[in-house]
Amino acid sequence: MRLEFSGIGKQFGARWALRDVSLVLPPFQSLAIIGPSGGGKTTLLRILAGLETPDAGRLRIEDQWVDYAEEALLLHRRSIGTVFQAYNLFLHLSARDNVLLPLLRVHGFPVAQAQETVDALFKRFQLLPHADRRPAELSGGQQQRVAIARAIAIRPRFLVFDEPTSALDPEMTAEVLDLIAELRMEGRDLIIVTHNMVFAREVSDQCLFVAEGKVIEHGQSSELFRHPQNPLLVNFLAKVLRY
Ligand SMILES: Nc1ncnc2c1ncn2[C@@H]1O[C@H](COP(=O)(O)OP(=O)(O)OP(=O)(O)O)[C@@H](O)[C@H]1O
Ligand SMILES: [Mg+2]
Repeated sequence: MRLEFSGIGKQFGARWALRDVSLVLPPFQSLAIIGPSGGGKTTLLRILAGLETPDAGRLRIEDQWVDYAEEALLLHRRSIGTVFQAYNLFLHLSARDNVLLPLLRVHGFPVAQAQETVDALFKRFQLLPHADRRPAELSGGQQQRVAIARAIAIRPRFLVFDEPTSALDPEMTAEVLDLIAELRMEGRDLIIVTHNMVFAREVSDQCLFVAEGKVIEHGQSSELFRHPQNPLLVNFLAKVLRY
């Protein structure tokens, strides 16, 4: 996919979370966003997903500049699959209904097609035995698989992940990361905010290093991790790769 940021800024109160981000990315299939806490990664991802409106600048996805008029933004938002750290499942609904109801009520799928979609995804993600349980009765890894199933079910233009494994133990982390790597293998477009540098390097073609509200460095992932240029990135990698 193709992305262009043109003077993007986002302000919370007096503070700019993002400042004048301008960048034309080379076409990619998988983009990793890395950087220190508070740097602006989530804000950038939420702008990409249409969950946040920039206070300055604009954003082009493929050939289209995102339109922030209410109706257009809603359609934009619905066309993207989002997976967050905290799963964001509806706690009072079963795993199955968490995926099924949005398809029926928000995305207008016919009932039979929605059910087929859910069955196929639950089978694929080994969720069938857990389909009738509520989120509280599922492990973190299972909940995140439900969240990923929900994101894929809508046939999104692309998927965004915000630290999808930071609430998981190592084994479940590996399970969810395998799943994301698999989605990449089947050709889906992905944008992933992650603190897992090995994963970022392995699954992304392009990488953005975001800090202090700016894209400090970007490039092909293999290159960026091997030869970081900016001292902020050099220090960041030295720190996070130490253990
Ligand atoms: N809704 C909000 N209201 C006020 N300030 C916010 C809000 N969201 C983000 N910020 C501020 O904007 C800055 C960027 O936050 P953001 O969540 O994008 O960082 P991040 O890179 O995702 O950090 P982390 O790695 O900790 O998730 C931070 O200073 C944060 O406190
Ligand atoms: Mg964040």
